[in-house]
Amino acid sequence: MRKPIIAANWKMNIGPKEAEDFLSTFTSQLDNITDEADVVIAPPYVSIPAAVSALHSNSGVSIAAQNVSEQDSGAYTGEVSTMMLKELFVRYVIIGHSERRTLYGETNALINAKIKKARAANLKPIFCIGETLDQRESGKLEEVLRSQITEGLAGIDDKDMKEIVVAYEPVWAIGTGVVATVEQAQEAHAFVRSVIADLYSGELAEKIRIQYGGSMKADNAGELLAQPDIDGGLVGGASLEPQSFLELIRAAVAAG
Ligand code: PGA
Repeated sequence: MRKPIIAANWKMNIGPKEAEDFLSTFTSQLDNITDEADVVIAPPYVSIPAAVSALHSNSGVSIAAQNVSEQDSGAYTGEVSTMMLKELFVRYVIIGHSERRTLYGETNALINAKIKKARAANLKPIFCIGETLDQRESGKLEEVLRSQITEGLAGIDDKDMKEIVVAYEPVWAIGTGVVATVEQAQEAHAFVRSVIADLYSGELAEKIRIQYGGSMKADNAGELLAQPDIDGGLVGGASLEPQSFLELIRAAVAAG
């Protein structure tokens, strides 16, 4: 049985002050939901310290970074290292988000280097993959996902793979209000799991949590999470307000 994992990706929204307000409202209404699902918040880097201090140590909510450098330190203007994140008690890091791939030119090779660096620091990668509309419509869905997974995970052993969460996010569903149908999402998730089974083993693939991302909201989270291969969500727009994110988590937990 895989415990659902619901992560908020705040993207370039919510500064330190707002993060503090959000999390005090949010944690006061979480009840014991974190017994049933892992809840993760990914603020912008500058809001991470405020977010960490606003969380009660027993809130059960973990902090993620939205990105990380593949380097350790040095002359890399604008970059942040894994060790800096560890110092702030960050547990997860989103790697290879489609916005990083398309807007900032991140390749599968760079994403692979970031995953390795994250694991070396014992951070848990949330490894994002997903196809564009063009790729889906031209019949390349499986080819694209297979190469993202194979190249992104090259050289990652079983032990590290167990600590990785995969996020399947069809690019055409991100921030568009167009959610994949449950059938499309389940089919892609089952395919992702089968590729992981080919690369590792069926047993390991059964343990990996695969989140869906792309216009997930409270009113579609339940049916998505009810699918056998959908184990959580990576949530952008619907995570920017405490009530809507809480509703989404409740719906996901009720179904998952
Ligand atoms: P969205 O974003 O929920 O706003 O579509 C999801 C994501 O990009 O992770």
